[in-house]
Amino acid sequence: EKGGFRSFMDKEIHDQPHAVADTLLGRTDTAGHLVLDEIRVDEAVLRRVDKIIVVACGTAAYAGQVAKYAIEHWCRIPVEVELAHEFRYRDPVVDARTLVVAVSQSGETMDTLMAVRHAREQGATVLAIVNTHGSTIPRESDAVLYTHAGPEVAVASTKAFLAQITAAYLLGLYLAQLRGTKYPDEIAEILDDLREIPDKIQAVLDAAGAIREVAVAMKDVPSVLFLGRHVGYPVAMEGALKLKEIAYIHAEGFAAGELKHGPIALIETDQPVFIIVPSPRGRDSLHAKVVSNIQEIRARGARTLVVAEEGDEDVLPFADQVFFVPRTASLLAPLLAVVPLQIFACELASAKGLDVDQPRNLAKSVTVE
Ligand code: M6R
Repeated sequence: EKGGFRSFMDKEIHDQPHAVADTLLGRTDTAGHLVLDEIRVDEAVLRRVDKIIVVACGTAAYAGQVAKYAIEHWCRIPVEVELAHEFRYRDPVVDARTLVVAVSQSGETMDTLMAVRHAREQGATVLAIVNTHGSTIPRESDAVLYTHAGPEVAVASTKAFLAQITAAYLLGLYLAQLRGTKYPDEIAEILDDLREIPDKIQAVLDAAGAIREVAVAMKDVPSVLFLGRHVGYPVAMEGALKLKEIAYIHAEGFAAGELKHGPIALIETDQPVFIIVPSPRGRDSLHAKVVSNIQEIRARGARTLVVAEEGDEDVLPFADQVFFVPRTASLLAPLLAVVPLQIFACELASAKGLDVDQPRNLAKSVTVE
């Protein structure tokens, strides 16, 4: 059933072009408008929404963090992302104009389910982004937008993550269409960019040999740091989580802008650091700022492993290794940039001889609080 792959995780990483394509499939009409009929929430309610709170755990929460950047930008609605187990214990400000988006692969995560119940008790509308049909979270929500990643077996989530981001983008574009915050041709352009993502993921998978080699050579490192900025920040967090959970290596993700506020003190000779570089075509000179972060840590002896957009030559002088990913719109870049990090964790854990699919102490779905 592993289809010739060494592990389910490896297989699921390679399934990702399909997970994204299938999640996009059938969600536009012939005129190119988004039709999310499955969201059976009164359009008037969605027009009135004045705040979105994403509740989720682990990888699903990082998908929510990526979605926040896109939904705020496209819809001009404030979006908070809250770990589901923190949400109901802080007396959150939730009312009938709040849309709570619960993101979960399994649909059975108890912490997320309890957050859903709490949100509905407070009068919020709850929309679930879930992969598993017939699971509990969609049953208890007002609406569900399914991700079509197919069953995910490995404990470490990969294809579900990409499908969650894709579904959350569809939700954001749908809200933008409904509320008129983006013109139809702008929405159509973003959808076209999204439809190109599966082939671009495939290109990253086809180039995986270089990452594999680096991962195998690094199997005995005690710690790896991950830096990212803007949408690259949750990607860095996810890269660190993957490495902790399956390779048992100390790993931490940081917002690159936070470096000088503390984490740069950790940099010493040979400390491996992954840096997720924003597109050079992006806004606000973020690219230049992250490139100068690479320079700063390299000057302190770090080993820099850079994930950058194809053609980005500015990173070359400061990178010990570069993993290029194809060009796409800045907001969609996480769908590509995370893939080398998933492969890195999977290959490193395999090189250590670990059970990649069933890491110690972890269960695929966490059904207790
Ligand atoms: O089934 P869910 O998406 O609700 O699960 C949430 C987390 O438990 C899950 O993403 C966990 O962090 C994964 N093991 C990450 O790889």
